[in-house]
Amino acid sequence: MGKLVICDHPLIQHKLTFIRDKETNTKDFRELVDEVSTLMAFEITRDMPLDTITVHTPVAETEAKVLSGRMLGIIPVLRAGLGMVDGILKLIPAAKVGHIGLFRDPETLQPVEYYINLPTDAPDRLLIVVDPMLATGGSANAAIAALKNRDCTQVKLMCLIAAPEGVAAVQAAHPDVDIYVAALDEKLNDHGYIVPGLGDAGDRMFGTK
Ligand code: PRP
Ligand code: URA
Repeated sequence: MGKLVICDHPLIQHKLTFIRDKETNTKDFRELVDEVSTLMAFEITRDMPLDTITVHTPVAETEAKVLSGRMLGIIPVLRAGLGMVDGILKLIPAAKVGHIGLFRDPETLQPVEYYINLPTDAPDRLLIVVDPMLATGGSANAAIAALKNRDCTQVKLMCLIAAPEGVAAVQAAHPDVDIYVAALDEKLNDHGYIVPGLGDAGDRMFGTK
């Protein structure tokens, strides 16, 4: 089964509190999501492989580490996932970005795919699917399945807040995918919203509704 990593760094937890707060305005919400995404990118890249090279310091020659050049891709799930992209690119500026458009049918809670556009070399990359909310897990599972259907086999999932139901759903459907979250919340309510959560991530990110 894929691992669940809860990124419990104090800076992440502090910023997440204000992301949750319903009084936080759109501008601050966006900035906080951006900052937390950068901090989580630090955690999700922890196991990136390194090579050893020789470097000449002003004092001596030494062996030192550099990233081995493994290529990454960031795959936001539209809309709300868009708000996490720039924060990750600050740490990994050479990553390519693909997009998966999904919305959750409010009646059935089933994901409806309306757009997909991936880098041509996506199958060669480690892909990080980003979406602030992992609720029922339907959207994340559909996004990961869409990648796998296009021969992309190395996938990680990064969300701000997850419900236990969503984590279980992704672990069942995609046991090869590690999940990184800033918080694992209590449950889903009758409308499929995460409790306590942060409300509707897309609406809060873009100031709609
Ligand atoms: C939200 C969220 C996830 C999905 C999570 O998107 O950003 O994509 O719901 O729910 P699930 O785990 O039950 O599938 P939404 O469908 O509201 O679309 P939006 O980002 O366009 O607002
Ligand atoms: N989508 C959201 O935006 N928020 C939730 O709590 C669940 C799904």
